[in-house]
Amino acid sequence: MSKVLKYKDISRTLKNIFLVEKNLSMQAKMAITSSVLHSSFNHWLFCGFYVTRDKKTLEIGPYQGQIIPCTHIPIGKGVCGTTLKDKKTHIVNDVSQHLNYISCDSNARSEIVVPIFKYKEVVAVLDIDSPLPSDFNEIDQLSLEKISKIIY
Ligand code: SME
Repeated sequence: MSKVLKYKDISRTLKNIFLVEKNLSMQAKMAITSSVLHSSFNHWLFCGFYVTRDKKTLEIGPYQGQIIPCTHIPIGKGVCGTTLKDKKTHIVNDVSQHLNYISCDSNARSEIVVPIFKYKEVVAVLDIDSPLPSDFNEIDQLSLEKISKIIY
């Protein structure tokens, strides 16, 4: 199945779940989202959320993957902390060439990090690591940004 169709399927599935289960917390939605995403893209090494503890630190949230991720990331550090700081999606095609990259898995080759907003504030980021170089493009960005909007 193509990426576009996979993401359409994922969006439909999540919207249906969140429509039926109206009072889900953000925590629950993030847990379900990481699971549904990872089931479709099972080659990803890590697919999960970091949540803002205060406005300056991210803490690990619900995720899927085999690795033990770093638990806290300060604002401006790594791709996740940079996303918290500048409030926009980041795609890293080759993590070995990225100076401000925090490595949690030596098999990771590319990464995408998408901010999750509540009232224009970043309350979490969605972080995905792939073992394939340049695995993420504008299809992933647009699709994941749409998905990020149904979490909040
Ligand atoms: N690579 C991330 C750190 C989190 S792990 O990949 C799960 C970063 O640079 O912020």
